[in-house]
Amino acid sequence: MSAANATLSAVQARRRRPPAPVPEEHEFGRLELLLRLRRNPLTIWRARHFREPIVAGEGLFGYGVVVSDPEVVRHVLVENAANYRKDDLQRTVLAPGLGEGLLTAEGDAWKRARRTLAPLFTPRSVTALAQRMVAPAEKTAERMARRRGGRIVDISADMTRVTYDILAETMFSNAIAGGADAFGKALTRYFETQGRIDPLDVLGAPSWLPRIGRWMARPAISFFEAQVKAIIAERQALHAGGTWRPEKPDLLDALLAARDPETGTGLSDAEVGANIVTFIGAGHETTANALTWSLYLISLAPDVREALEAEIDAAGDDLAAAALSGSRLALTRAVIEEAMRLYPPVPSLSRTALADDATGACFIPKGALVVVSPYLLHRHETLWQAPDRFRPERFLPGAREAISRFAYLPFGAGPRICIGQQFAMIEAVIVLATLLRRLQFEHAGEEAPVPVQRITLRPGKGMPMRVATRSPAR
Ligand code: HEM
Repeated sequence: MSAANATLSAVQARRRRPPAPVPEEHEFGRLELLLRLRRNPLTIWRARHFREPIVAGEGLFGYGVVVSDPEVVRHVLVENAANYRKDDLQRTVLAPGLGEGLLTAEGDAWKRARRTLAPLFTPRSVTALAQRMVAPAEKTAERMARRRGGRIVDISADMTRVTYDILAETMFSNAIAGGADAFGKALTRYFETQGRIDPLDVLGAPSWLPRIGRWMARPAISFFEAQVKAIIAERQALHAGGTWRPEKPDLLDALLAARDPETGTGLSDAEVGANIVTFIGAGHETTANALTWSLYLISLAPDVREALEAEIDAAGDDLAAAALSGSRLALTRAVIEEAMRLYPPVPSLSRTALADDATGACFIPKGALVVVSPYLLHRHETLWQAPDRFRPERFLPGAREAISRFAYLPFGAGPRICIGQQFAMIEAVIVLATLLRRLQFEHAGEEAPVPVQRITLRPGKGMPMRVATRSPAR
């Protein structure tokens, strides 16, 4: 076989089964489990997790129930959501950076924050923000097009940058005190260090024992806190001086003006700050990973790429309007949804049961750790045909309606569903369409990328790609 043919057949094999850890049949001992959790939590799932709707038993975290039965998922996340709180491990990993922002708040504080913040992300608000997403997307396409042909770049860094630029634009009208680059770097460092599960947390060691990851993340967190305070103070001064006259209000203005509809009270400065960091933390790597995996999967499937190019070329010049139309970029949207099925940016949701609970044949005792893993659900043998294959047509209108609501959960479900869901989908469609209108991407790594879970699900060693302008160039 020639070298070119060998490469082609490797690509075809990857299209049939895009890379993912092959689940083991055998049980793991405690030490092996701990090491797997530390290195890549995706590898703790065994073959039975992809076959069985419920897997329960004693584990590292005490009694645990892994739920992949859509009816039980509905029960836990929606019908009886009040019986489940976010588990302590998740809070320990996330809380130091995100403070009492919406993602990590609980109880009454969460309810009040959710009521107050909901208007920021209604379809109407997102429609108003969509036009602001176009310029950063175009700037990214322009930057990538200017690079010399044939050069290999890590596109995961470009995607992290563009989602960050879009947040900086929609949130602060790009007015970041101290510079956007330093802020973006601190954020990446936070995810690199803080995002790893520390064995000490798994073993329930007291919080005063130093965790290496948290220690390394400390400078990044302090930097954030100082930056965010400066941004809020600067905006408040502009408001007070009557000199802030933006064409359209941004998310920071909306946060400062937000009022609890029940009590009429606004957010404290600390809450505004925690939610800014939360929106960036929750909305930046996640969307970037969805885009990175989408571009990778498209590079494996020339037929999908050609169909996408045709759809995007026919969508008109105003890609924000096309993205909002819901139908003009249907395949673009379907590719992103399929990429998030195979590589869900948030691969695992976990809760602790506050009291005994039972649904169907499933009994969940008080104190149990309940795991709903989008990664498992999305590849579960009982819920999908050819679950490991890239088939974006599953999500096209006509087919999508057949997918069970609780078998596909990239944004979670129930009261704690992602508040930024519409924002993220519109953003991802606009960015993908803007890039594919001008550029083509070819995977250039010697080996297939390895999906690794670090809070979000990302390619372990980046995503090297050769980027070329489309011919004829647009
Ligand atoms: C593709 C992109 C995204 C994905 C896959 C995603 C996924 C999720 C998931 C699964 C949850 C629920 C977690 C749980 O139930 O434990 C969540 C919550 C949340 N997300 Fe997103 N997200 C994305 C983008 C965004 C964006 C763009 C923002 C904001 C600008 C955002 C802000 C939040 C917040 C604040 C929460 C907490 C909501 C609450 O607890 O009330 N996310 N996200």
